[in-house]
Amino acid sequence: MLRDRRIVFGVTGGIAAYKAADVVSKLRQAGALVDVILTDHAAEFVRPLTFAALSHRPVYQNLWETTGEAAARHIELAEAAEALVVAPATADTLARLAQGRADDMLGAVALATTAPLLLVPAMEHHMYEHPATQANLRVLVERGAVVVPPEVGQLASGIVGIGRFPETATILAHLRALLGRGGDLAGRRVVVTAGGTQEPIDPVRYIGNRSSGRMGYALAEEARDRGADVLLITGAVGAPPPAGLCVETARTALELRDAVRAAIVGANVLVMAAAVADYRAERPADRKIKKGSAAENADGSLTLRLVRTPDILAETAALPGTERLVRVGFAAETTDVAANAAAKLGGKQLDLIVANDVSKPGSGFGTTTNEVTIFHADGRVEPLALLPKAEVARAVWDRVVSLLAARGSAQADGDA
Ligand SMILES: Cc1cc2nc3c(=O)[nH]c(=O)nc-3n(C[C@H](O)[C@H](O)[C@H](O)COP(=O)(O)O)c2cc1C
Repeated sequence: MLRDRRIVFGVTGGIAAYKAADVVSKLRQAGALVDVILTDHAAEFVRPLTFAALSHRPVYQNLWETTGEAAARHIELAEAAEALVVAPATADTLARLAQGRADDMLGAVALATTAPLLLVPAMEHHMYEHPATQANLRVLVERGAVVVPPEVGQLASGIVGIGRFPETATILAHLRALLGRGGDLAGRRVVVTAGGTQEPIDPVRYIGNRSSGRMGYALAEEARDRGADVLLITGAVGAPPPAGLCVETARTALELRDAVRAAIVGANVLVMAAAVADYRAERPADRKIKKGSAAENADGSLTLRLVRTPDILAETAALPGTERLVRVGFAAETTDVAANAAAKLGGKQLDLIVANDVSKPGSGFGTTTNEVTIFHADGRVEPLALLPKAEVARAVWDRVVSLLAARGSAQADGDA
């Protein structure tokens, strides 16, 4: 989604200016056309040549250079920009942007463009928390800017506090979300679940599964990048959740059920990619179960009584107010994939079920790829090739978009 997108990238005079080089590099690697503008103070930290070499394009700095090239280009850049990113954004630049100053190249482009503005403030924590900086950020947000919040961590001064420049991946995630506004899921509220549940046996042990959460994350990211308002509900996952969307945590099947029930009120789509335990311990011990304790049987074995967890997806079919919710399930199987998937599709009254044989190499838990078959409620069966999970996610949302459109026109017909 970043390929051939025109990004104007402002770098200002903060100590994190060197980190902007990585963001520009990653953007170019993703195929974006990045025009970098440095403030004079940014050029004190990192030379323009660094950005020119990484972006493969000229770098702009001086509005006043005598050839008039920059003066002419600033309007052209402003008009071509699909997004204006300012990273790092110093306290000083935030103040000037809030005031609408146009006394340098970046300020002039910021005023002349109608492209959305993504700000990545980075500074010493008192500077960030200062009422003046916070007031400037508020003004900019009220005008439509998106702010990537700085992280808490070790600052250049050695102090630990808020103000750190975020990871490149976090900035790119916010930019993708910004560029995706107006996509084919714009205005849709979607709920995606990811990862495995952990059903406690005692305070230190649980029954879990091998779900990495990658498929759910890919689904949430793809929906975000197509303009959806995404709530990602994660169980146990290895990696931190994607940025630029709302995240809730639900550890157990029962917690997940409560979270899903609350989340789907008013939502358009529910995609359950979480691997939810089918069974949980009926009575988890409130203390760690010790060898030789009274919990053991006489022969040294331990008996755990497991009870069924609720079928979260099936239950949502009966909830009032969710008749128009598009519901998508995932089926991870090791045998009889087609028969099991078809039974789940009907039994849970789903619109789609995405089934895969997790025993196949490159498919299922812990992998970056997946080979799935999509079963539709109308009986169509679509086997897909072995694909990266991001592409599987794209295929799933393509089908959901068609379902939403069909549901919209059915509603219009009904209203007429
Ligand atoms: C070594 C050094 C590090 C600085 N780091 C930051 C910073 O991280 N964030 C910030 O807002 N200002 C920082 N400043 C202050 C800015 O450079 C100063 O406010 C400048 O006017 C910013 O100009 P610009 O926003 O036009 O680039 C730093 C200054 C120095 C000398």
